[in-house]
Amino acid sequence: MKTTVPKLLPLLVLLSIAVACERERRPVGGAASAPLGAPVYASTASVTAIQNVSHVLEIAPRSADEPAVIDPAALYTQNCSACHQATGQGIAAVFPPLDKSPYVIGDNVERMASIMIYGLVGPMKVLGNQYSSAMVGLGATLNDEQLAAIATYIRSNWSNEASPVAAEVFAAAREKWGTRGPFNIQELGEEG
Ligand code: HEC
Repeated sequence: MKTTVPKLLPLLVLLSIAVACERERRPVGGAASAPLGAPVYASTASVTAIQNVSHVLEIAPRSADEPAVIDPAALYTQNCSACHQATGQGIAAVFPPLDKSPYVIGDNVERMASIMIYGLVGPMKVLGNQYSSAMVGLGATLNDEQLAAIATYIRSNWSNEASPVAAEVFAAAREKWGTRGPFNIQELGEEG
């Protein structure tokens, strides 16, 4: 006995070093701290525990370079529906409709982009009805991607079936008009 232990000692030391190295390689916290997208293995954990882990991964904060998710319907609700209504019908004689409006579904998307960025004041007709009110532009609060998402949403919602609008349309409008106040509809071209 006295002779075997010292003989085994170097071997034991080697073994413990090997075990320590193996531990080192494993991330602290195990599966939950695995990188996003990496498969998560759980040998003894219950299904609920696995579900909890994937839930945590889903709501993990996004990295700064990842663009925020744009929710067009929510953007419309937050920025437009107070006046134009969830139905897109507006309010008679006060807020014009977006549903079926030629300013929305027409090919002149630059005009709609300009209205959305800078706003609109003064008398105008939409679908035969007269309005004379004011819309404040949203160009200072929303970026081009958000505006394009709303534009695409209102062109394809309700009974509208027009094509999507790219963020570049808004960028071009900002480039063209620079810093200015709301338009009068005559400046942008009135519909007949
Ligand atoms: C504070 C109320 C208000 C908000 C908020 C508002 N608008 Fe308007 N909008 C108006 C009014 C009022 C007019 C008509 C202005 C006039 O009489 O010259 C108008 C006109 C328009 C027009 C042209 C006329 C038509 O009905 O087609 C479009 C397009 C439009 N708005 C889109 C939007 C979009 C998209 C949003 C959200 C990003 C928005 N508006 C937010 C009040 C508002």
